[in-house]
Amino acid sequence: MTTSILTSFMMIIWLAVKQVRTDCLNDTTTESTFVYRRVCYFANWAAKRYDNISRLTPEDIDPFLCTHINFAFGKVLESLVIAPYEEDDLKGWTASSKGMYERVLKLKEVNPDLRVLLSVGGWTHASRGFNEVSKNAANIKTFVKNSVKFLRDNKFDGLDLDWEYPGAKDQGAEPHSKTGYTKLVKKLSRVFQREAERTGQEKLLLTCATAAARHRIEAGYEVEEVCKYFDFVSVMTYDYHGSWDGKTGHNSPLYAMRNERKKFREWNINSSMLVWVELGCPKEKLNIGLSAYGRAFSVFGETGMTNGKPAPKKKSSIGMKASAAEAGKYTREAGVLAYYEICELIQNNPNNRVFWHRDMSVPYVSSKALWIGFDNIRSVTLKMQFLKEHGYGGVIIWSLDLDDKTGEVCHEGPFPIFNAAKRELSILPEHLVHTKIKKCSDINATITVEHLRSKTTTIKTS
Ligand SMILES: *[C@@H]1O[C@H](CO)[C@@H](O)[C@H](O)[C@H]1NC(C)=O
Ligand SMILES: *[C@@H]1O[C@H](CO)[C@@H](O)[C@H](O)[C@H]1NC(C)=O
Ligand SMILES: *[C@@H]1O[C@H](CO)[C@@H](O)[C@H](O)[C@H]1NC(C)=O
Ligand SMILES: *[C@@H]1O[C@H](CO)[C@@H](O)[C@H](O)[C@H]1NC(C)=O
Repeated sequence: MTTSILTSFMMIIWLAVKQVRTDCLNDTTTESTFVYRRVCYFANWAAKRYDNISRLTPEDIDPFLCTHINFAFGKVLESLVIAPYEEDDLKGWTASSKGMYERVLKLKEVNPDLRVLLSVGGWTHASRGFNEVSKNAANIKTFVKNSVKFLRDNKFDGLDLDWEYPGAKDQGAEPHSKTGYTKLVKKLSRVFQREAERTGQEKLLLTCATAAARHRIEAGYEVEEVCKYFDFVSVMTYDYHGSWDGKTGHNSPLYAMRNERKKFREWNINSSMLVWVELGCPKEKLNIGLSAYGRAFSVFGETGMTNGKPAPKKKSSIGMKASAAEAGKYTREAGVLAYYEICELIQNNPNNRVFWHRDMSVPYVSSKALWIGFDNIRSVTLKMQFLKEHGYGGVIIWSLDLDDKTGEVCHEGPFPIFNAAKRELSILPEHLVHTKIKKCSDINATITVEHLRSKTTTIKTS
């Protein structure tokens, strides 16, 4: 971003603040205060990559890109405390350098409306620590007390529980985990509330990242109950298909395919979100999940090799026998490609053509031997329109480092995936514009909307 854009942008904010103050001479104003949540994950390991393309430091993040940043990850220990994963989370490597927590939190100096939460858990962390923490009332009480201290000491605005997943035996969850999770969440919510009343500080936010597949949701969550206590609930509506299937399938379809097999009919965003709603979670508390990566396959052809030669095919398709594609040049994990790595593959090889799947409403790359299910600006925009039409409260995106941070690879501007979501969500549906009466004392919320609008203008003109 150039200095002049930033300057004019700051001026717009200043004008917006001034405007709001004038409006607020009396106690009510008809200013709209509605903002869709844009919750972005920051992965601390991404700041340690060696090359300029894939490394993402806190200073690379546009402070107005997200309404919330979840710092991934913190650990939950069996000793009932939260602990940092990396040595440099708390303190920099040298006496004068800052820790990673502090560097992310520093973004709030530019955007005071930004909220930064600590996300604890993750897929590889699994149920370790969480089992112990949710075991009985005494453990819950101790953990909650320790958590408040850890979050406040490190100046976080909230806690994001990323236990993958209560009720998941394959992920080490013990039998008490479903009811234990509810009790843990209830206690965290009560204590966060009381602590805010007692200290006069803004209440710590309590949120979670949760499963998208019905069998996992039913096994792990007392949905109606936990949704009462969370400020919002983020459904990880991606990773529906990947190399573990042994055949090609899309990472994050919006809808099912026509004639989709019964088992997979609900493995898409539309259906997963409705499972949460059907089980009693209010729509406005739910966030849809987006991924700034794709899942990639090496395709052998339906019959594999014939007489030592690959089966002749121009284009691979869904459901073909496949294994994880070769790792990306930068992210180096077989079967997973960052958005910018997909851009590069498309640019460098004319055989890697992009197609659009009409039923699923998502793009895919298909050549003779490669198949990638991913998201682009078009599919993200459509998913955000879906979000608004159905009245969901926001979006989460995994993760900041996987987007094209500077725009130099994909040539679609900085953070094209995140900005596509932001752009679409800043266009409020008619019924949400100028409908809410808001007290002047809630001045911050009003300013947020102005931030959102002014930034959108900036993007369009740059
Ligand atoms: C605000 O407006 C109401 C009615 O419009 C009026 O009764 C009240 O006195 C006003 N308050 C102030 C502080 O101006
Ligand atoms: C990486 O970025 C740094 C500073 O941002 C620059 O000095 C360096 O030349 C870059 N390296 C490459 C290989 O582009
Ligand atoms: C969305 O999901 C619901 C429930 O699974 C289904 O009835 C509906 O047809 C789906 N909508 C589309 C457009 O596929
Ligand atoms: C608005 O935000 C500022 C800075 O974060 C904070 O100090 C202030 O208390 C907030 N005001 C309200 C009414 O929430």
